[in-house]
Amino acid sequence: MVAKSKVFITRQIHREALELIQAEADMEVWPDDSPPSPHVLRAKAADAHGVLTNIMDGVDSAFFEAAPQLSAVSQLAVGTDNIDLKAATQRGIPVGHTPGVLAKATADLTFALILAAARRVVESDRWVRAGQWKLAFHPMYWLGSEVNQSTLGIVGLGQTGIEVARRARGFDMEVLYHSRSRKPAIEAEIGMTFVELPELLQRSDFVSLHCPLTPDTHHLIGRREMDMMKPTAILVNVARGPVVDTTALYTALVEGKLAGAALDVTEPEPIAPDNKLLTLDNVVITPHIGSAGNRGRRAMAMLAARNLLAGIAGQRLERCANPEVYS
Ligand code: DGY
Repeated sequence: MVAKSKVFITRQIHREALELIQAEADMEVWPDDSPPSPHVLRAKAADAHGVLTNIMDGVDSAFFEAAPQLSAVSQLAVGTDNIDLKAATQRGIPVGHTPGVLAKATADLTFALILAAARRVVESDRWVRAGQWKLAFHPMYWLGSEVNQSTLGIVGLGQTGIEVARRARGFDMEVLYHSRSRKPAIEAEIGMTFVELPELLQRSDFVSLHCPLTPDTHHLIGRREMDMMKPTAILVNVARGPVVDTTALYTALVEGKLAGAALDVTEPEPIAPDNKLLTLDNVVITPHIGSAGNRGRRAMAMLAARNLLAGIAGQRLERCANPEVYS
């Protein structure tokens, strides 16, 4: 009997995905909710043919060095900033990821954040729960910014950025975008305008970040960029925390240079309970739940499972983050 390939799954994932993997491989699932330490991860990878990771697992060159039999890493996320893709490619290891199945869920959450921050949903809910709703209605209470007919600036026009743009058109918003490459066909289809980043920052009522975290986008939005924004603008980040300079954001909010912020990602994650941002009423923070729709998360798990199985079978991955590994 031929021995099955060994795979290590760094966290519990949907049962259907585990069943798919178990049918083909000898599988170990890390039982804790917290990630294995780097030391344990390397030890688990030492005799594994495939490892299924997520954004909390540091997959660096030491990991690859410790894993001589490894033929694939499969990341349960679209972002791969926790993985040294260069080191993977140098060792001929394909890295799977999960684009195509989570953009709509993440765009929905982006709109939840935009609406929550603009119309003060979380802040007013807190006020009601604190027993402060004593007067049924007042014409001047709880005014917020209108989302409809405002201008949205999208930074990073990948799949999520495109889905956010589609939703924005439904809200009758003017949509500007800035991205590494211009996408004229999508621009025309959705009806949006490419502009350079400074113009986007100056004109937008909502600036929504959707770019990957790379050395180029680290602190892409800092003090200088916040100074360019309207004092009535709201900054939305569902990309990666370090795309925004958090210290600069706090200062800009306190000094009234920005009207608010809505963040699904922070630097670091989780945000410390005593972080000063949490003292501000005009900040809404969710705990990195952009892709956490039931349907989307299941689809992510299934795609990650298929990528893993293709990798250990020596087949081309369905969605590969380092396709240069095949050339
Ligand atoms: C991603 O896919 O990169 C998200 O941040 C986690 O789902």
